[in-house]
Amino acid sequence: MEPAPTQEIRLPVLSRRRVELHIRREDLLHPGLSGNKFRKLNYNLQQMQAAGLKTLVTFGGAYSNHIHATAAAGKEFGFRTIGIIRGEELDGRPLNPTLADARAAGMELHFVSREAYARRGDPGFQVELLDRYGPAYLLPEGGTNREAIRGCAEILGPEDAAFNWVCCPVGTGGTLAGLVAGSFPGQRIRGYSALKADDLSESLKALVPGDNWDLCTAFHFGGYARIDASLVRFINQFFADTGIPLDPVYTGKMLYGILDEVGRGTFEKGSRILAIHTGGLQGIRGMNLNLRKKNLPLLQL
Ligand SMILES: Cc1ncc(COP(=O)(O)O)c(C=O)c1O
Repeated sequence: MEPAPTQEIRLPVLSRRRVELHIRREDLLHPGLSGNKFRKLNYNLQQMQAAGLKTLVTFGGAYSNHIHATAAAGKEFGFRTIGIIRGEELDGRPLNPTLADARAAGMELHFVSREAYARRGDPGFQVELLDRYGPAYLLPEGGTNREAIRGCAEILGPEDAAFNWVCCPVGTGGTLAGLVAGSFPGQRIRGYSALKADDLSESLKALVPGDNWDLCTAFHFGGYARIDASLVRFINQFFADTGIPLDPVYTGKMLYGILDEVGRGTFEKGSRILAIHTGGLQGIRGMNLNLRKKNLPLLQL
């Protein structure tokens, strides 16, 4: 497959600090399966097909990019999709844009309590799901498993060996794990956490191979899907300066963090950074509905 395009960013802070920043536009890989979702689903869908299964069951929150992409894949490739969605209170309420798209693509949505959702990894709960939905391929939350990591390792190609830093956003850590697996000698991979979880770095150690990576936890803006006016302004300004849209949950926070750290001299002079645009732009519509309710400025894309 052709690699996704890469765009060099030119901003005064980068030239002042003599740091190069390039963005790999994985968000442009596929219209419905944007960014890391294409990578994560690729080998999983091959496994599902090899096992002769025609139903995929997966898990996510109401704004999940993974739910959105899995539903789109089901529609495009002709398999049944079932989404186990966190929050039984959402049942019967008008769907947000993410879930409305998923249902329009044919996904069956099942809303479960937070307690039931917390059991999503339990073998017992998984057996119950398989009893209910028939023979099915079970894909974990965020699509992160061994096949996903194998797919994310392919984000990097031989043309990337000359970057000494590769940066990505982190939720479940599957993308980070894949990048570390696909990294070149001398490269460091830096993840930017979208979650407020003090022990995330420790728990990632079980998933992420090697030791040429670290996790930055300073730019989660209060936690998952939390956002404030300064982040909205940053995303809008970055789009105006570069033409690159960022999502508010993952890539916006990562780029805010990278440029803040460049300004502080965290990356040594002469660094060449490759930041991975992991997609997630579908979430902007739902975020703007929330921003409007809170009287905050909107994302202008
Ligand atoms: C757009 C986007 N970027 C980054 C991530 C984080 O990826 P991971 O869960 O593999 O850490 C996600 C979540 O899966 C996502 O939807």
